[in-house]
Amino acid sequence: MAFIRIPPGWQLPERDATPETVFFNRRRFLKGLAGAGIAGAVLPLVGCRTQKPLDRAAIAGVQPLAVTLNPAFAQVDRPITNELVAATYNNFYEFGSTKTAIWQNARPLPIEDWKVEVGGLVKNPQTFDLDDLTKKFPLEERIYRFRCVEAWSMVIPWVGFPMNLIIKAVEPTSAAKFVRFTSYYDSKVTPGPLFPPNQFLPFPYTEGMRIEEMANDLAFFAVGAYGHTLPKQHGAPLRAAIPWKYGFKGAKSIVKIEFVDKQPATFWNTLIPSEYKFESNVDPAVPHPRWSQSQERFVGAEPEFAWIEKPTLKYNGYGEYVASLYS
Ligand code: MTE
Repeated sequence: MAFIRIPPGWQLPERDATPETVFFNRRRFLKGLAGAGIAGAVLPLVGCRTQKPLDRAAIAGVQPLAVTLNPAFAQVDRPITNELVAATYNNFYEFGSTKTAIWQNARPLPIEDWKVEVGGLVKNPQTFDLDDLTKKFPLEERIYRFRCVEAWSMVIPWVGFPMNLIIKAVEPTSAAKFVRFTSYYDSKVTPGPLFPPNQFLPFPYTEGMRIEEMANDLAFFAVGAYGHTLPKQHGAPLRAAIPWKYGFKGAKSIVKIEFVDKQPATFWNTLIPSEYKFESNVDPAVPHPRWSQSQERFVGAEPEFAWIEKPTLKYNGYGEYVASLYS
């Protein structure tokens, strides 16, 4: 991985971090909820950046990973997001709703002796520890576009393995139609946002997809990024990276993978079904009810270190891989 220069004191102005329309609509949305008597029971997926310089402490404790870059995913149409920008601007509601504080709040996540239980409608259920996973499945690096439903985007060099290898290892039965990913949850460790409190949110965080989507070559489990293990705020030690879908589909810190026969309930779809659909493929033509998805703000790459407007691409630019899944 190329050395990534950290400009001193780089920062994002607040006005660039939250599109005004989103911000004002958010207030209207919360007011609406208050009227309905459920203020604070749900959180909109919007955030803002406080003016803090980048901090190398955000990636403290990561371990280098020996990997080769998969030539099929060696570049995209824009530069890689600065590592410290990505590591200090996160969504991980188990650790609050302030994007810039997640890297500090997530420090108590206990990632040692991690186990991932893979089961449900499979012939060969298995519980893997992290060592099993990384020895059994050869690690590769893939540079993927990453598009959040909030209309910001990044480019991240993930390290991991295709999800399809898990399918082959556990052999789902013909009854299995969907997969559900469950994230780590322990209310003593993952306090959630200050408001609304955890009991109003459908924790543990779950996400899911159809089996054919999971079997697609692009669907990836990441155990690392930027050439080393994942920092906790990115969902250490194992998270999903599904680049043609909005970022919320990529469950972090996965402890359970279950093959099921019915479409599983998922965190955001349970909370606000009108805004966060189960499928949630990136699509410029389908606006979020509160903002357009036609453009995105690409975050934090050299040399600009600014938010650059780009047109949103259908399937986030991965149509050649996935369009046939939806024909
Ligand atoms: N996984 C869990 N467990 N909890 C979360 O709150 N947020 C999702 C997704 N995975 C989330 C999660 C959302 S909304 C996004 S955009 C991405 O993680 C953000 O990933 P990043 O912080 O590594 O960029």
